[in-house]
Amino acid sequence: MTYGTVTPAVVAELRAIVGGKSVWIDEERLEAYTHDETSSDEYAHAPDVVVLPTTTEHVAAIVKLANRERIPITPRGAGSGLSGGAIPVFGGILISLERMDKLVELDLDNMTITAQAGMVTNDLAHTVAEHGLFFAGYPMSVETCQIGGNIAENAGGGKAVKYGVTGRYVMGLELVTPTGEVVWLGGKLAKDVSGYDLKQLVIGSEGTLGIVTQAIIKLTAYPKAASDLLVLFDSPRAAIDLVPRMLRQGIVPTGIEFMDRLSFQTSCQYLNETLPYQDAGAMLLIEVDGNDPAAVEADLLAIGDLCEKHGALEVYVAEDRNAVERVWSVRRNIAEAFKVERPVQSLEDIVVPVASIPDVIPELERLGAAYGMQIPCYGHAGDGNLHATLVKDPAMDHATWLRNKDACLRELYRFVQGLGGKISGEHGIGLKRKAYLGDVTNPVEIDLMRAIKRAWDPLNVMNPGKIFALDAGP
Ligand code: LAC
Ligand code: ZN
Repeated sequence: MTYGTVTPAVVAELRAIVGGKSVWIDEERLEAYTHDETSSDEYAHAPDVVVLPTTTEHVAAIVKLANRERIPITPRGAGSGLSGGAIPVFGGILISLERMDKLVELDLDNMTITAQAGMVTNDLAHTVAEHGLFFAGYPMSVETCQIGGNIAENAGGGKAVKYGVTGRYVMGLELVTPTGEVVWLGGKLAKDVSGYDLKQLVIGSEGTLGIVTQAIIKLTAYPKAASDLLVLFDSPRAAIDLVPRMLRQGIVPTGIEFMDRLSFQTSCQYLNETLPYQDAGAMLLIEVDGNDPAAVEADLLAIGDLCEKHGALEVYVAEDRNAVERVWSVRRNIAEAFKVERPVQSLEDIVVPVASIPDVIPELERLGAAYGMQIPCYGHAGDGNLHATLVKDPAMDHATWLRNKDACLRELYRFVQGLGGKISGEHGIGLKRKAYLGDVTNPVEIDLMRAIKRAWDPLNVMNPGKIFALDAGP
């Protein structure tokens, strides 16, 4: 069975649902919706129509129409995803949540905020900061991403060692199901075992099990003290070797971020930033927070001592917030910097048990040499989650690059699987890793996922073509 097409009659119906100004079919406007932040044109595809609903009822009506006509739907937040999840591979209707950006409720007694899915995560953060609160599951792309996209991808971020990822903070969500029904899952509850945990199933399902239209987010009180340590090493191995040892000390840092030299320098170049330590072979950026400034200080000193004893070149305690923010900005901008400075590349998101993370660096070095490519690396070392980035050598021809990249990824993913790891910790499978998931996943598990997808989305209209192939049909 093939998909139906977006006919003029369908466009007219969409206009009747959301209003004429919220339905776009002109090519220039569609262009922005053909890709996400994945650095490869091979995944790009245009939708036939972009629709910008403002209410849950709009979304439900569009999804019902899509089911009736069997037209594929692709939900989209800010398009800051890194696995092609928001790319409309089969064309059809792209539903952008960008105008569903309203604050619904700030409930200070329950320490929750309820927002529409298109609220920019940074706006949410600013809204609650006035009350001394924050959303601890914030991702690295915080300035642009939207809360609905964070939920669809179960985004991680720089504070996950201590605070965990997005899913931990989603107490409830309003979902438009793939057949166009509206349902609230979860609520303002600290515990809930009333049936299957469908809310958690939706979180991280990459828009394939419905469209999140609103969410209740758990807020956390800002810790009274926070401090950062920047530790320099002569090599990535020396830096990463220390991470499990650091975590075994019994101190829980907020985050342990890693950057190798090429990652750090590329981001500095992109930002026009000059920092005194940019020639170090690798560095760790470690944050500790808590309510007792003396305890935070003591924890930081203990971590600093450990680093000094085990191979660090220098340990800097960041004295002023401005200096710290400059280093964090360099860290946050690495992915974007590589995209601009080294556009032919593959940004990876491997995750392994944290005790195994020292094994990853030598393997990346071996793979880089074997396949003739640089593989700079940075990421959330304290979570065992590294963004190894395969970068094409300008001298390599494109066909060889594609072949080598594919072979290198297959080897890398098998290696990660051997350590008990997974091929994506926070960016998702989407289109980018779909061809590889089956290599490293028990078929029983994929069949369970397929069964869920078929039950929820019998016509396979909700973000089809992502994560895994269904046996029959597209
Ligand atoms: C980061 C994104 C790429 O950690 O996940 O910077
Ligand atoms: Zn990341």
